[in-house]
Amino acid sequence: MSGALIPGIERILFTEEQIDARIREVAAEISQRYAGRTLTLIGVLKGSVFFLTALARHIEVPVKIDFLGISSFSNKSGSPGVVRIAKDLDESIEGEDVLLVEDIVDTGFTLRYLLQTLAGRTPNSLSVCTFLDRNSRRIVQVPVDFRCFEIPDRFVVGFGLDSNQLYRNLGYVAVMKHEKT
Ligand code: IMP
Ligand code: MG
Repeated sequence: MSGALIPGIERILFTEEQIDARIREVAAEISQRYAGRTLTLIGVLKGSVFFLTALARHIEVPVKIDFLGISSFSNKSGSPGVVRIAKDLDESIEGEDVLLVEDIVDTGFTLRYLLQTLAGRTPNSLSVCTFLDRNSRRIVQVPVDFRCFEIPDRFVVGFGLDSNQLYRNLGYVAVMKHEKT
């Protein structure tokens, strides 16, 4: 699905063209930062898949790609931020230059957990690139090295982001009519 509007969408936040242009800019920043090195991109399933592949195609240093699957849930007292790895990486990242690729950083709980876990595997370097950043909802402070777009405090879908597993394949990012957060 690319340009077609679907019911349930309030407005388009970023068009396919805007996304493509911004990804090229961020890929250029990354290429510059890692010049002369080999970069390992780690995507967090499933949301970051669309962004990771689009980004990787514009990065001009050699890249390796691996994926992590996570599940996040609330603990017994109802507080958010309990995360565990449901699918681990295929390869070791020891001594590698790692760029963790996220779809969106919201409260920061997921990213904090992933950074702690990956740092324990002694990569040479560990940085973060996120497609979307909703900084207004941050609860825990996490470092974000590269970001494509800052977004308002509204639930969004498209370009990998889902609502009940739907709409990941939209080419644009849109705000949903009914809030799901
Ligand atoms: P955090 O731990 O609160 O930063 O959670 C981030 C995760 O929540 C993301 O990786 C998404 O899977 C999900 N998420 C947060 N906001 C949205 C949204 O607006 N649309 C779809 N998924 C979202
Ligand atoms: Mg995610």
